[in-house]
Amino acid sequence: MLKNSDQVMPTPGNNGLRLRQATANDLDRIMDLEHQGFAAGHREARSAYAQRVGTFPQGSLMAWLGADCVGCVFSEIWRYAPQPDAAHFTLGHDICERHDPAQGTELYISSMTLAPSVRGLGLGAPLLQGCMAHVAQAFPGVTSVLLLVNANWTAARRIYAGAGFEEIARFDRFFDANGAAPEHGLVMRRPIAL
Ligand SMILES: CC(C)(COP(=O)(O)OP(=O)(O)OC[C@H]1O[C@@H](n2cnc3c(N)ncnc32)[C@H](O)[C@@H]1OP(=O)(O)O)[C@@H](O)C(=O)NCCC(=O)NCCS
Repeated sequence: MLKNSDQVMPTPGNNGLRLRQATANDLDRIMDLEHQGFAAGHREARSAYAQRVGTFPQGSLMAWLGADCVGCVFSEIWRYAPQPDAAHFTLGHDICERHDPAQGTELYISSMTLAPSVRGLGLGAPLLQGCMAHVAQAFPGVTSVLLLVNANWTAARRIYAGAGFEEIARFDRFFDANGAAPEHGLVMRRPIAL
């Protein structure tokens, strides 16, 4: 439940979606969303999310619609690398490996999920834009945004393309879940301000 003392950020547009920084108390909900959003083999561990929430609360955001917690988005601030390699994006990596808010200039969106009950309502873009706006305000040194998306995740790709992200690298067979055909990963980037 949202408390009156919670600091809540609106997202762009008139959609009612609001963001609040995640805390350790949100980990059960985060893992519910992770299971609803990603197939086995694509999921990240509770310990990885606990590290993210503890290390970078400003970039670990829960999304609320009315009285319901309906999504979450996670990010890190990295030092800029023109062509990041696949090792940067290992599933379940420790945020402390690259998170450097003092010297980093690139926001890396590590995960974004909405509950199935609110998908298809156009809330994906405001969730992403809300995260970028919130971090940009808190960390004015950030100049660009980076993410990796599975080439088969159509809704996510439409959101990123619509938000001005451009493909800068492709990792063949990056997503190699047990038992499923390997899927390609696309690295995309845009300036934080367009
Ligand atoms: C990615 C996610 C947050 C997007 O939210 P959503 O509510 O499904 O999507 P939206 O309603 O915001 O629509 C986004 C775009 O995708 C399109 N879209 C939505 N579902 C689609 C589907 N099943 N097939 C094709 N296109 C789809 C919409 O038409 C829209 O495109 P447009 O802006 O060009 O019209 C949500 O699908 C999700 O949580 N998925 C599971 C986890 C995931 O893939 N996360 C992203 C990678 S980290």
